[in-house]
Amino acid sequence: MHFKLPSLAAWSFLLTSAAVKAASMPSKVYGVNLGSWLVLESWMLPQEWLDMGGESCTPCSACIADEFSFAKAFPNTVDGIFQKHWETWFTQADVDTLKGDGINTVRIPLGYWIIESLVDRQTEFYPRGGLAQLIRGLQQLQAAGIVAILDHHALPGVQTPNQMFTGHCTSDVEFYTEPNYLRALTWAGVMTALSHIHPAFTPVFAIEAVNEPIMDAAQTPGYGTYQENFVTVVRGVEAALGVQIQGLTNPQSATNASQAILDFSSSQNNTRFNSDVKTALQNTASILVEIASANSTQFDLTRSGRGQAPLVTNFMDVNWQNDNPPNPAAAAWGPQAYDNHLYYVFGGVAAADPTDYMISICNLNRVQADAALGDSPLWFGEWGLPTQFNATDAFLQQWADAQKLAYSQGAGWIFWNFKVEHSTLAGNLSREWSYIDGVELGYLTKDPSAVHNASVCAPFVNAS
Ligand SMILES: *[C@@H]1O[C@H](CO)[C@@H](O)[C@H](O)[C@H]1NC(C)=O
Ligand SMILES: *[C@@H]1O[C@H](CO)[C@@H](O)[C@H](O)[C@H]1NC(C)=O
Ligand SMILES: *[C@@H]1O[C@H](CO)[C@@H](O)[C@H](O)[C@H]1NC(C)=O
Ligand SMILES: *[C@@H]1O[C@H](CO)[C@@H](O)[C@H](O)[C@H]1NC(C)=O
Ligand SMILES: *[C@@H]1O[C@H](CO)[C@@H](O)[C@H](O)[C@H]1NC(C)=O
Ligand SMILES: *[C@@H]1O[C@H](CO)[C@@H](O)[C@H](O)[C@H]1NC(C)=O
Repeated sequence: MHFKLPSLAAWSFLLTSAAVKAASMPSKVYGVNLGSWLVLESWMLPQEWLDMGGESCTPCSACIADEFSFAKAFPNTVDGIFQKHWETWFTQADVDTLKGDGINTVRIPLGYWIIESLVDRQTEFYPRGGLAQLIRGLQQLQAAGIVAILDHHALPGVQTPNQMFTGHCTSDVEFYTEPNYLRALTWAGVMTALSHIHPAFTPVFAIEAVNEPIMDAAQTPGYGTYQENFVTVVRGVEAALGVQIQGLTNPQSATNASQAILDFSSSQNNTRFNSDVKTALQNTASILVEIASANSTQFDLTRSGRGQAPLVTNFMDVNWQNDNPPNPAAAAWGPQAYDNHLYYVFGGVAAADPTDYMISICNLNRVQADAALGDSPLWFGEWGLPTQFNATDAFLQQWADAQKLAYSQGAGWIFWNFKVEHSTLAGNLSREWSYIDGVELGYLTKDPSAVHNASVCAPFVNAS
């Protein structure tokens, strides 16, 4: 038998081994969102926003009320002004407080513009420098033992109309088009690579595809295909970097991550690697070189992801949408989790009174309904204490307990938000929107796994 010795490049894995170990999903998620940090929503910090030079208006598209309008109006100063915001809105003191409050997870809302080469600077306006701040924050979280979800919160072309959380309040929704899906896939590829090979990204265990797409699936054409491509890009990047992914092999001959992704992409004939996925992988490879060589974000491109766990891919659950939505469970390849957001304050969930709120939350069957469609595990990635009526302190305590008990039937919960501004202009905003204040005021227990009264729902179960 003729034994052919493979060439060195074919059998020797040349990326250096990984010193970092990927974080894993907590057995129960007790989390907060780091909202208004890297995607600023001016309603949460009304005074600081005016001090920065912004404006306030209704609708929010009518003035400088979002990041896009701000960056467009102040092209020469926007980066410095946002730098100051990023440094002061989320600090080491906040990390210490969250750790002291027993928080084990943060969800980090991010804009597509944090990957700066995805921005078309002729028509799109956003501050630069966010990625270095994300790196700084992740390092602080890592030291505190808090794990993180990278949440693609503000998508290219905006995913829903007239919302500050998309970065651009506009009725012109362009996300659900091929070029913007492609940019989002590239974003996912870059973030996945960084999560495995940039040492600061050690706390990251999950990546969320799209925050709050339009609920009517008839208005989100192509979203099901995007879900599948998103997972394929994540798994493709991982396989290329040496993370073990079932069904994928790679040539493992490259000496750096960028080349490894290119080699992997060109050798793939698995049918999920369509032209959009391959283009996203190629774009990922070149953007990684830029990030690795930039002063504020530099890292060693020769690292691998060998021995690391794959990321948890994360989607809003199928029941987030109506009108024949695609089911993200169909896109799963490896570990995947689902997200739902419940905000009673915006209406449509329960009648605007305390008893109806309690009857609704105490009989919530979202976890079961999702699981029946394969959307499990489910965490509640946004919720809060706000109500449509003036709630008493006693009610807010019950309301916090009941929500935590309901959401803990699933994988856990992530409060919106870790904090909001304290100012005359902000008034009572922090009472119901700030986790840190909620703990101080006694609505939320200091131990997030506890409640004040485990029987809080007893009078309301099956009471509808
Ligand atoms: C990556 O590796 C390839 C060869 O595999 C080399 O041509 C390229 O210059 C390397 N790029 C960087 C940024 O190190
Ligand atoms: C591509 O397909 C051929 C034949 O179907 C197979 O032999 C080969 O291993 C595949 N390559 C990869 C990278 O999967
Ligand atoms: C990058 O860092 C080097 C060495 O620290 C420094 O000389 C150079 O000026 C920096 N470049 C930029 C654009 O900040
Ligand atoms: C809540 O209280 C405020 C201030 O006391 C009052 O202006 C407002 O009308 C009340 N809202 C409702 C819904 O009762
Ligand atoms: C703010 O909350 C307090 C109770 O904590 C309440 O007495 C007061 O009326 C609220 N103010 C407004 C404007 O709602
Ligand atoms: C807990 O809530 C139940 C239901 O409202 C109530 O009957 C019970 O008295 C509460 N327990 C305490 C210690 O407040």
